[in-house]
Amino acid sequence: MEQQGIANLIDEQEWLDEAAEPVAKVIHDILPRELKNLLHGTWLGHPLHPVITDIPVGAWSVALALDGVAGMTGNEDVGDAADISIAIGLAGAVGAAVTGATDWSDTYGRGRKIGLVHGILNLAATGLYAGSLIARRNGNRDTGVALSMLGYAIAGASAYLGGHLVFNEQIGVDHTATADAEKPEEFTAVMNAADLPDEKPTRVEADGVAIVLVKRGDRIVALTDTCPHLGGPLSEGKLVDGAIQCPWHGSEFALDDGSVVNGPSTFPARCFQVRVRDGRIELRAGNKQAAE
Ligand code: FES
Repeated sequence: MEQQGIANLIDEQEWLDEAAEPVAKVIHDILPRELKNLLHGTWLGHPLHPVITDIPVGAWSVALALDGVAGMTGNEDVGDAADISIAIGLAGAVGAAVTGATDWSDTYGRGRKIGLVHGILNLAATGLYAGSLIARRNGNRDTGVALSMLGYAIAGASAYLGGHLVFNEQIGVDHTATADAEKPEEFTAVMNAADLPDEKPTRVEADGVAIVLVKRGDRIVALTDTCPHLGGPLSEGKLVDGAIQCPWHGSEFALDDGSVVNGPSTFPARCFQVRVRDGRIELRAGNKQAAE
């Protein structure tokens, strides 16, 4: 309830959308596709950003504990270890910022606004930690500790919003990982084979599951119509070099096996078994595309 209240408050700030649009466009346009695939985690089969965020969160938590011990014992070696943890966290924060900004550039609406606040808070926390490290190196330990404690509080608030983005706004999750993942369990007729146009993505439904069919010569392939990235309709996309491209953010999935050719999706598109019986196209859940 509280979390939704904060998210709703952010969502009401229309100026955030105006501020976000040009920034997202620059990030989106400036990075080469290969680099974006790397930063999204397309190669990993999982978003890279949450993997890297563990570095600053972990390192800064260790630094907080070490600062506490150093404060109580006066042990300078422990204080130095805290400084090192802060430096490690700063390095991780740079990686988290780059991967997070790349993912964020392919969001929209409510998620984009909340993501922008999440990013601003992270930048503020990172700036405070950078200031803390400088103060510590200059011998102003008390100031350094105070700055890092403030940074930790802000990073915590930001992490709270980061969790909201995943669990509530469903950014970074597989949008096809639902209870329908096993459907249809039996071969289900969806349309006449003769009515399926060549090389034109066509949406059908089988047991309530939206599926896109693509006929290529004698072959018919079937993938989930729901883009795993943010749920875009693949049947409204276009065919590109043996792949289907999502109309929303351009993710491309191989027609052969649904694997990700280009992100931002890091999850493959689910495939279905296909057969033709008595002139009707029949589909069943399964990762093998038996085109007949
Ligand atoms: S919904 Fe984003 S690429 Fe498909």
